[in-house]
Amino acid sequence: MSILRLAVVGDPHGAWDGSDAALLQHLAPDVLLVVGDLSDGQPRIPAELRRLPLPVACILGNHDAGKDPSGRTLERQLDTLGELHCGWGLRQLVPPGLAVVGARPGTAGGGFHLSRAVRAVFGPVTLEESAERITAAARAADPALPLVLLAHCGPAGLGSAAGDPCGRDWKNPACDWGDQDLALAVRRIQAQRPLPLVVFGHMHHQLRRGSGQRRSLCVDRAGTVYLNAASVPRHGRDPAGRELRHFSWVELEVADPQAVRVLHASHRWYGLNGRLLYEESLHRCSLATSLPC
Ligand SMILES: [Fe+2]
Repeated sequence: MSILRLAVVGDPHGAWDGSDAALLQHLAPDVLLVVGDLSDGQPRIPAELRRLPLPVACILGNHDAGKDPSGRTLERQLDTLGELHCGWGLRQLVPPGLAVVGARPGTAGGGFHLSRAVRAVFGPVTLEESAERITAAARAADPALPLVLLAHCGPAGLGSAAGDPCGRDWKNPACDWGDQDLALAVRRIQAQRPLPLVVFGHMHHQLRRGSGQRRSLCVDRAGTVYLNAASVPRHGRDPAGRELRHFSWVELEVADPQAVRVLHASHRWYGLNGRLLYEESLHRCSLATSLPC
């Protein structure tokens, strides 16, 4: 039995610098997952992620195309990330032993929609084709490795209230803003092999049109944990003036590839010295505290 420790970066929107790299060196997670919207198409953060000395998997979000419908900006981001990017594909990280499958890159949620930039880079892709690409990547994964899905926007089906993990909160009526191709792929993958975790961002935790925070974790009937990591801004300062850096944190217990479970999931805010200053616990396996989807 082993424990895999995953640090997750929710939508940075530019909030990534040397202090994050230094923190990761101190925290030493086994894997770093990055859910996209690094910036508005600037090359700095993809280049810095590429230089990190730990296993990294990343998927790009809608903001990563900049305001460039030609797709050239998106293409440059993809080129800079190189093998780190796992959109519509499989990235196997060995060591430590994790298969990461990427969902549709560049999504802005809302069911199924391809931006002009995504169409320019990847061509026209139907909902069914997208779901099949994700499912095929999971099928190609080494069955001996635990499998995690990495997406920019989460799947449809996690609730239609504004405060649900993918609920539309910026316009009335609230609705389910999750991606339908990803939901389809999740169902197909679950029929084939265990899927302990789906990680995504895009739908920021702080709700617009009213106050409050989004529900950022739920568990479905198959036992898959869905984690929205989009704490935006992820750089902040507490009332005492201390700098804060956000990471979502997940610990996977791997008994064997057929028996992988999320032991722990939380949002964590660290000081620059690596001290854990605030933690929002979302899921602990021994306690039935996580809400069903
Ligand atoms: Fe986004």
